[in-house]
Amino acid sequence: MAFDLTALRAGYGAFLRDGRVLLTGHSHQAWPDVARDAQIATFDDAARFVDDKWGAAVFPKIESVSRRVLARMGFAETDGLALGKSTHELVFRLLSCLKWHEKPRVVTTTSEFHSLHRQLSRLAEEGVEVVWVDATDRATLAERVIAACTPGTAMVALSAVLFEDSFVVRDLGEIVAHAAKIGAIPLIDAYHAFNVVPVSWGPAASAAFVTAGGYKYAQFGEGICWLRVPEGSTLRPAYTGWFADFEALEGPRTHHVGYGPGGARFTGATFDPSSVYRADAVLAFQDAHGLDVATLRAISIRQTSRIIARLDERGAFEHATLASSRDPDRRGGFVTLKTPLAQDAVKRLRERNVFTDARGDGLRLGPAPYLTDAEIDAGVDAVAAVLAG
Ligand SMILES: Cc1ncc(COP(=O)(O)O)c(C=O)c1O
Repeated sequence: MAFDLTALRAGYGAFLRDGRVLLTGHSHQAWPDVARDAQIATFDDAARFVDDKWGAAVFPKIESVSRRVLARMGFAETDGLALGKSTHELVFRLLSCLKWHEKPRVVTTTSEFHSLHRQLSRLAEEGVEVVWVDATDRATLAERVIAACTPGTAMVALSAVLFEDSFVVRDLGEIVAHAAKIGAIPLIDAYHAFNVVPVSWGPAASAAFVTAGGYKYAQFGEGICWLRVPEGSTLRPAYTGWFADFEALEGPRTHHVGYGPGGARFTGATFDPSSVYRADAVLAFQDAHGLDVATLRAISIRQTSRIIARLDERGAFEHATLASSRDPDRRGGFVTLKTPLAQDAVKRLRERNVFTDARGDGLRLGPAPYLTDAEIDAGVDAVAAVLAG
């Protein structure tokens, strides 16, 4: 690997502790120590600038973080980006552009994260027509999503990488292009892609709404998610806050609701800026250590391949099934084992100081760039022992 693991690990003094193995790279990666400094800088800037902190520090940081986030997502740095505290907030803002009373048709899959799954289930109660494409057969998912997007569909919403087993969805670019062709809004949840799986957005990239966030592979922590907004979007979120049109605040107050340029129309209202300080510092840290997306992907593939090989060696698949793909092109940043004992295994692994998580019967093992091979091996051996026990 081109990067220096020893130097990198020195930057995680608070999170990396002897004897503890963090296989939580897919959920809560360790935060570098610069994130802690950034928390303190948030306070110090508020003390220094008081209410002028927004113009003096916060908005310039938002600008700079947005540019770097867009580049890491594979978009032009100048594209529109809206920040929000969760993907749910941003996705709901996008959903609020649909005319619910006209029963819009939304195509999605049965493997979306709870934020979208629950929200669309609830909107179905309000009359939105939600088409749930069965995601069980991962290999044919893309073509079935495209087939479900018939003319008149208002939105297609799906993940780039599925949260259950890290399956990298095929032909995302084709799905986006098809949605754009029929006039549907393409919304991609790229949370499990950001900073770990580069995505080819395809010929209709400019049309894609893409959401992701800071909690997982980004190492920014909570409270910072984003939505990439296509240039020239004229959508009018009904769920709108005053940050969406600062210029209007200068003029006389009216009942006309306008929207600012770029990503502004999808922003909300006053938020805690400490997440932006952390993002700014952590991105600089990652850049300084050569952790660009291509490097992060190479590290991730090497680590997940190592996990699978060692699970093989340890006979773990006598007790559990590998749900993630053995094909690295179809495998994202973690490895899922299916076992009815998944929830219990998480508890027993924690007793051994190995941190993992489970979604239903899927035990998820997520490496991260700062882990040594010895830590990964120790974690996997514990998994094998717990499954055998
Ligand atoms: C695919 C995916 N999207 C979104 C989220 C987070 O959603 P939210 O930001 O709404 O909490 C997660 C997990 O935390 C996820 O796995």
